[in-house]
Formats: sequence, C-alpha cells, structure tokens
Amino acid sequence: MNDRLKRWKGKVALVTGATSGIGYATAEALAGVGMKVAITGRRSERLEALKERLESSGAEALALTADQSIPEANHKIFQRLRDHWGPLDVLINNAGVAHRSKIADLEEHQLQTMFDVNLRAATLCLQEAVKEMREKEEAVIINIGSMSGHRLVQGGGGAFYAGIKSAFRVMTDGLRYELAEEKSRIKLCMISPGLVDTEFHKIAAGEQPEYQFTPLQGSDIADAVLYILSTSPTVQISDMMIRCTRQMT
Ligand SMILES: NC(=O)c1ccc[n+]([C@@H]2O[C@H](COP(=O)([O-])OP(=O)(O)OC[C@H]3O[C@@H](n4cnc5c(N)ncnc54)[C@H](OP(=O)(O)O)[C@@H]3O)[C@@H](O)[C@H]2O)c1
Repeated sequence: MNDRLKRWKGKVALVTGATSGIGYATAEALAGVGMKVAITGRRSERLEALKERLESSGAEALALTADQSIPEANHKIFQRLRDHWGPLDVLINNAGVAHRSKIADLEEHQLQTMFDVNLRAATLCLQEAVKEMREKEEAVIINIGSMSGHRLVQGGGGAFYAGIKSAFRVMTDGLRYELAEEKSRIKLCMISPGLVDTEFHKIAAGEQPEYQFTPLQGSDIADAVLYILSTSPTVQISDMMIRCTRQMT
C-alpha cells in the first residue's frame, strides 16, 4: 500500500450506491486501505454480501439499505452512520441512475428518478457530509460525475442525463468556492468517468452493448479514488476526467 494512504486506516468512509459497479469496487478499495466502510443501495442481499466480503478481508463494514430517491432516506443514512461510528471522514457520492430516451419521449417517472437520485440525493448527502466534516483536520468528498456532464454526445438519448450531470458538476464547483470562502479543510473532488463496464451502462445501452473500445472497469475509478486520498492535505484534485483508451468523445 502507498505510504500516504496509511493515514486513512481506521477512518470512516461512506460509499453510496455500492451494490454494484464503481461503488462496489471503491468500497473494496477503501476497505483494503483499512478504512471503516459504510455502504448503501436498495438491494439489501447484495449489500449484506458485500459487507460479509469486506469483513472477511478484515475490514469493518456497515450496510445501510436505503432508497435514496426518498429525501428522508438520505438523512437517515447519515444518522445511522453517526450513531454507529461517529462523523465520517470520506464520502464517495456515487449512487446514480440513467434512462436513455429522447427528451420528447422520456417518461415522467424516468426524469423524476434521474433528478431525485443523481442530483437531489447527491446534494442532500453533500449537505450532511459538509456539516459533519467541518471540525475534521482532513476530510474528502468525491462526487462521481460523468463525461456526460462535460459534453453532449449526439444521439443515444442521453441528453437529460447529461443535463443532470452538468448541473451536478456546476453545483460541485459552487460548493468548492463556498468551502474555500469559509476556509474549510474539506477537499471536494469530482471524478467524471467515460464508459465504465457496469450494470448501469448495460441497462442504458441494452443487453449486449457493442463497444468500439475496451471500457473502463469499476476498479479503474477506485484507483483514481485512492490516488485522490493519497495526495497531501494541501492538494485538492478538483476534477478528474477519465476516458478509456480510444474513447474519443
Ligand atoms: N457506467 C458508466 O459508464 C458511467 C459513466 C459515467 C458516470 N457513471 C456514474 O457512476 C455512478 C455509479 O454508476 P455505475 O456505473 O457503477 O452503475 P451501477 O453498477 O448501476 O451502480 C449504481 C449504484 O447506484 C445505486 N442506486 C441507484 N438508484 C438508487 C436509489 N434510488 N437509491 C439508492 N441507491 C441507488 C445502485 O444500487 P441499488 O440498485 O441496489 O439501489 C448501485 O449500487 C453513477 O453516478 C453514474 O452516473 C457511470
């Protein structure tokens, strides 16, 4: 393990959306560093299975089943985590969902879910985390955005999702300014992945997505999370865009 990661051993991390994909890989990586890891998602069997997996590797884990599209559920996640381990040190704000459709054809429940999970829940988690982290000597928040928050790809029906992820990116920048104004020690980072081979992408692209290149894996994004945590307390990686090799847009 990188020596600069040792300072996180025994510290508390929360990974939202850890039942699969990027969140799952990141929870494993943080447990590998010796962090206490709280994990969320709606699928409780998967959460429990991951909790057992982390514990069997010697880590402490806490499974918090929650549907984050319900505002109150987000507050409860933090309440339960505080009651169990105290205030958190690292938030990986990752839970997300995408529905691909032309905007004209998007069903109301689809746009509602994308707004509720990707923007409202993520913002509520940011508010809770900032409140808890204010007194910490060092604390890190990593928002998982998307390359879709940086550019619009023609076709593919991802425009509404791109709009939400763009709003998330701009809001992240705004919060970073606010934290700087109050001389906060909290680091706020956004990782914007390109195509990652996860359930999310398979659902959005159909059963057998045909890739023009080798997609990223969740573990590639987990590696980036560890890199951010390894930087000195005075270094803030504000944005990381990660494409797979040969991904052009
Ligand atoms: N895959 C890509 O190509 C890609 C690219 C750029 C950005 N991203 C972003 O990466 C993040 C993670 O996505 P992923 O690719 O790892 O997809 P994934 O494998 O589908 O994981 C998404 C996670 O979010 C959770 N989630 C979804 N709706 C939820 C809800 N209502 N309440 C609580 N948890 C919920 C899911 O848990 P449950 O289903 O158990 O609730 C799951 O653990 C998302 O923010 C996504 O926008 C992905």
